[in-house]
Parts: sequence; C-alpha cells; structure tokens
Amino acid sequence: MALDELKSRGAVVVGGGSGIGRGIALALADEGVRVLVADINGDSAAAVRDEINKNGGTAFSTQADATDDQSLARAAVEAESKLGDVQLLIHTVGVISDSPVTDASDDDWAWHFDFNVMAAVRVVRAFLPLLRAHGQGGHIVITSSTAGVVSFPFAETGGINIGCYTVLKHAVLGYGEVLGHELEQFGIGVSVLCPGAVLTNLDETSAANRPARFGGPLPTPKELDLPVRMDAEQVGRIVVRGIRANRRYIFTHPELVGAIRARRIQPMLDDLAFCAENAIS
Ligand SMILES: NC(=O)c1ccc[n+]([C@@H]2O[C@H](COP(=O)([O-])OP(=O)(O)OC[C@H]3O[C@@H](n4cnc5c(N)ncnc54)[C@H](O)[C@@H]3O)[C@@H](O)[C@H]2O)c1
Repeated sequence: MALDELKSRGAVVVGGGSGIGRGIALALADEGVRVLVADINGDSAAAVRDEINKNGGTAFSTQADATDDQSLARAAVEAESKLGDVQLLIHTVGVISDSPVTDASDDDWAWHFDFNVMAAVRVVRAFLPLLRAHGQGGHIVITSSTAGVVSFPFAETGGINIGCYTVLKHAVLGYGEVLGHELEQFGIGVSVLCPGAVLTNLDETSAANRPARFGGPLPTPKELDLPVRMDAEQVGRIVVRGIRANRRYIFTHPELVGAIRARRIQPMLDDLAFCAENAIS
C-alpha cells in the first residue's frame, strides 16, 4: 500500500539516534510525521528528538535495544502511548567489520547475525501489532545495503573485507522481500533500503560497541578509502520518496547501478536463453 499522505502519521525509527536513521527521522518529520526516535543510545535519540522539535516538528524519544525483546516491548508500549496509531516502522540498526568469511570466528558470525538479521526480525515482531491494530495499513522500511544485493570485490570496499556483513545483508534483503509478501494482505508495504556509502560513523561505533557476549569491543578500524559518501539527510529524503511510491527496494546511489546483481547475472541468463533455443529435442 502506498502511504501518499504522510502528514500526522505516527512513525517509529529504530536506530534513529545517528546516521541514516537520524536522516530518515528528520525527513519524515519534515513531512509532518510524528516520530518516536528509538536507539540503544538514549542520549543520541533525545538529541534527534530535540532537533526535530526545535525545527517545528513533533518527536519523542526512547532508549531501546533492538537485540532485546523486553526492551522492544517497552518501546512499543511507549510508541502507542506517545503516538497513538503507528503507520510507519523504520529499522536501521546494523553493524559492519573487517571480517573475511575465511577468517571470521563464530563470535563474528553470531554478532553480525544478531545485529543485522535478528535485530530486524525482533523489531518487526515488536512493532507490527501496532501497524495492524488500526486497519489503515502502513509501511515498513528494513535497512540492508548495496552489499545486500551484490558482493563487492575487496578492492571496491574502501580497504576492508566486508565478508560477514555482505552475507548477512543478503539475508536482510531476503527477509524484507518475504516480509513484503506476507504483509501485502494487511495493506502494509515493505521497502528494503539498499544504500551505497553514506557519511556516518558505522564502522567506528560498530567496533566500539561490540557486546562482551560476542567478544567485546574491537580496535578502532582504519579510515575507509572510499570516494565521496552521501550525507544521511539526503538518504532520508530518498526514503520518504520510496515510501510514498511503495517501492520494494530503495536504492540511493545511481553510480552503483552497474554493480547491481541483476546486471552481473544478466549475461548468464542470456546464455541460458541461448541454450534453451538450441536445445536438442
Ligand atoms: N553508512 C553506510 O555507508 C551504510 C551503507 C549501507 C547500509 N548501511 C546500513 O545503514 C544502517 C545504519 O547505519 P549508519 O551508517 O547510519 O550507522 P550509525 O552508527 O550512524 O547509526 C546506527 C544507529 O543504530 C544504533 N544502534 C546500534 N545498535 C543498536 C541496538 N542494538 N538497538 C538500537 N539501536 C542501536 C546506534 O546507536 C546508532 O545510533 C546499518 O544497518 C548499516 O548497515 C550503512
């Protein structure tokens, strides 16, 4: 379902305290959406709330951990009491690290799975009842990455090997697609956000905040050698357009079109057609 009219809708943005989540929260607030900014870092969530309210929007904030069902349940209660009806759910939590698939430890895999895949599953499970409660339909945005659509060779990732990240962001993409099929009957659209490089601190914050249960903090990663990175506010505006158009995928970086998997697979599909035409019956 396309939510053309966004004004006065209620939105929860999980991971909204920084980077892409903050950019989406600001862009939604600019459209008159009332926003609950939820983040594991309660102070950064509150700062985004204040920024929105200062600009004339309506926002609330809460501390919530997307890897903890009880914490999310509390945030859902808060969302209902602060926003009333909730039509929009934005999930942006994720982590990245220099983890080649040949060297990654069980902890590396478990951390990436928990924060990139299960966080999305838990967030949807916690907030979906609110989107279904009023029967007006709604929209969910799940954040994957361009690395969820194609596996970039090491030379194209700014000097780190994003092996584990790539595998699990592909899983996020699959999860979002299936979720979209399942929720169509309830008038709830699902978009999978697949950004290219965006100017945020994801690599540093991921390393600094890796929980003890997955091996604890990692050393500060080296500076990425990437070409120009998009600013998160621009990503936010692109996401708003994607929600309005009920896009299944929201891409942000036109220069990455050539890298998209479909383009890479197409020659092999062409070859398949050739084989079929020339099949010996
Ligand atoms: N930055 C990029 O270039 C880029 C590109 C493609 C995809 N992405 C994806 O975008 C998403 C957002 O990343 P970002 O670059 O904006 O990073 P960021 O570090 O600026 O923002 C992530 C936010 O999530 C919060 N967070 C972390 N763990 C949490 C948890 N357990 N519960 C609740 N909140 C939590 C952090 O406190 C932070 O505010 C990630 O899923 C990332 O993989 C980023």
